[in-house]
Amino acid sequence: MQPTVIAPSILSADFARLGEEVDTVLKAGAEWVHFDVMDNHYVPNLTIGPLICEALRKHGVLAPIDVHLMVEPVDCIIPDFAKAGASIISFHPEASRHVHRTVQLIRSLGCQAGIVLNPATPVEVLDYLLEEIDMVLLMSVNPGFGGQAFIPSTLDKLRRVRGMIDASGRAVRLEIDGGVKADNIGEIAAAGADTFVAGSAIFNAPDYADVIGRMKAAVGAARRG
Ligand code: DX5
Ligand code: ZN
Repeated sequence: MQPTVIAPSILSADFARLGEEVDTVLKAGAEWVHFDVMDNHYVPNLTIGPLICEALRKHGVLAPIDVHLMVEPVDCIIPDFAKAGASIISFHPEASRHVHRTVQLIRSLGCQAGIVLNPATPVEVLDYLLEEIDMVLLMSVNPGFGGQAFIPSTLDKLRRVRGMIDASGRAVRLEIDGGVKADNIGEIAAAGADTFVAGSAIFNAPDYADVIGRMKAAVGAARRG
């Protein structure tokens, strides 16, 4: 299992003060910035694009930017994000006609590649991809909005994907996204996740360092068994 990463989703940040929000959450102990890209086509919401990613880099953000593409088609926007400073680019296989080619495209641009599984996407989609990717992202809500409740069946799915990753022997991260809070992150970690996206749980709290600290303590306790 990879070292623990907390990746706050800026979807729930105050967009009018985005640079400051990202600085604050990184100073509060977060390792990555989770960047949700929605196109009002693949998902029924519209958010942010490569310009904002580039603006964060220009602002001085050095932490990995974890770009979660909820767009269709995906290939045309990938070079723009690579140029804008994305570190990891994840996409939904349903949104790409040639999934393996999209993975190759991301890696050819020097970024890490992730595959995102929706709640109803079977884990078998990973069968011929696990050797080629750097991260699996399991959605524990249906994509499109922050602040939804964690879907409990994702815990069993996490255990299955953890087994597949361990059997592959590769250093593939297992990220969870949707409804992650300080009070359920322990069981999510115990089920096999090492990378945790949290939007509303962090940005709607008065003290980011306090929530992130409690999340890390719960993950630490779960990982010690
Ligand atoms: C949902 C996004 C998530 C979302 C998580 O489509 O991919 O990253 O912002 O938000 P919370 O943590 O509030 O469920
Ligand atoms: Zn996301």
